[in-house]
Amino acid sequence: MSGIKHFLDLDQHDTQTLRSILDTGLAFKQGKGEEEPLKGKTLVLIFEKPSTRTRVSFEVGMQELGGRVIVLEGDSCQLGRGETVADTARVLSRYVDAIMIRTDDPAKLADLAQYSTVPVINGLTDDSHPCQLMADVMTFEEHLGPIAGRTVVWCGDGNNVATSWIQAAVRFNFSLKLACPDQLMPAAGALEWARGEGGDITVTTDVDSAVKDADCVVTDTWVSMGDDAAESRHNLLAPYRVDARLMGLARPDALFMHCLPAHRGEEVTADIIDGPRSVVWDEAENRLHAQKGVLAWCMRN
Ligand code: CP
Ligand code: NVA
Repeated sequence: MSGIKHFLDLDQHDTQTLRSILDTGLAFKQGKGEEEPLKGKTLVLIFEKPSTRTRVSFEVGMQELGGRVIVLEGDSCQLGRGETVADTARVLSRYVDAIMIRTDDPAKLADLAQYSTVPVINGLTDDSHPCQLMADVMTFEEHLGPIAGRTVVWCGDGNNVATSWIQAAVRFNFSLKLACPDQLMPAAGALEWARGEGGDITVTTDVDSAVKDADCVVTDTWVSMGDDAAESRHNLLAPYRVDARLMGLARPDALFMHCLPAHRGEEVTADIIDGPRSVVWDEAENRLHAQKGVLAWCMRN
């Protein structure tokens, strides 16, 4: 390996590294972090898919750490006209100190990391969303204390965010139950990896039994960026909607989480996402703090 500190997926890092990134992020949040540790450094953000939170939190976070940001939209740079990911990686590495990319195909992320000589950060692919999970673990622990040994239940599509939850469950040592329709189960490779690592992961189609006694109930959009067959997804996922009845099966102090953007009345009802157990705004804020931990880990000398 090159020794370059890429942040591509949670399964590539040990618990100690991930914990230390979270501690650094929390220190920044509490105003106890080092002053401008990334002064003079430049981060490029590449977006081949839309974003609100990822774009703004990385941009603000980098600036708060003393650095600069350049944003490239996929269709306004040569990547969108067929320049290879490898060539893009080689060129950008001559100008900047780190690259964050949001893209569809995880092979593009892997290529970027292979050919870049500066750290690459995964800002979401069709397969995973590790930065989201750093924020989510931080948020859980701020509200309910250590996540180790607790039970989180994922309801709905076994998508990219679900995969990062699976990897987080192993690394942060909590139980994860995924309630998904048969046609939309989480990635087999992620489940196999997690079980090989001794993770406490359960997969079921029975959402009611999964949610019983949960410490945290999580869901996500029924139609992720790039998904088709929206109508059939809606039909399959309707029984997995998080509403007051379903939340009533969880522990009385259970949290509700959602990475956002949300679709009220689809994967979650308004009374739940806008209600007292929802911590979705804290999750969104913690993207900023957790990612400052990631940026400092990747780029600090
Ligand atoms: N949760 C998340 O990644 O949001 P954006 O798509 O707005 O970046
Ligand atoms: N699963 C969603 C997450 C958005 C942040 C998507 O990929 O569109």
